[in-house]
Amino acid sequence: MNRTIKTFALAALLAAFTAGVQASAMPKGNAAKGKEASAACAACHGEDGNSKSGEFPKLAGQHADYLYNSLVQYKSKQRKNAIMGGFAATLSRQQMADLAAFYASQKGLDHKY
Ligand code: HEC
Repeated sequence: MNRTIKTFALAALLAAFTAGVQASAMPKGNAAKGKEASAACAACHGEDGNSKSGEFPKLAGQHADYLYNSLVQYKSKQRKNAIMGGFAATLSRQQMADLAAFYASQKGLDHKY
C-alpha cells in the first residue's frame, strides 16, 4: 500500500468511527420513568441500585453515560453476558437512558481510597 492509500484508508476509518459514535449519542434520560422500569432489575441490583450481593454490580451513583453504554453494548453483544444480554435485548435506547438516569441519581458507595 502506498502512502496516499494508507492515509485515505485511515481517514475513512476515522470518519466511520466518528459517525458511529455520533449515532450512539445518549437520549435525554427521565429518572422517574427509569425508576418504574427498574422494578425488573431490583431482584439482582437492589431497589436503588445498591445490590446486596457481590455477584451483581452496584449501579447506584454510577455515571449515566457509563450505565447507558453498558446496556447498549449488552444489546449489541459487544459486551457478552447471558443474563444482561437477555434484559438489554428488550430495552429501547430511550428506556436505557431512563434507567441510567435513575441509577445515576441514587446514592452510591462513598469512595474512600
Ligand atoms: C438476574 C439478575 C439480573 C437482573 C434481573 C438484571 N441484571 Fe444487570 N447485571 C447482572 C449481572 C450478573 C451483571 C454483570 C454482568 C457482566 O459481568 O458483564 C449485570 C450488569 C449490569 C450492568 C453493568 C454494570 C457495570 O458496572 O458494568 C448494568 C448497567 C446493568 N446490569 C443494568 C441492569 C438493568 C437496567 C436491569 C433491568 C432492566 C438489570 N441489569 C437486570 C444481573 C442482573
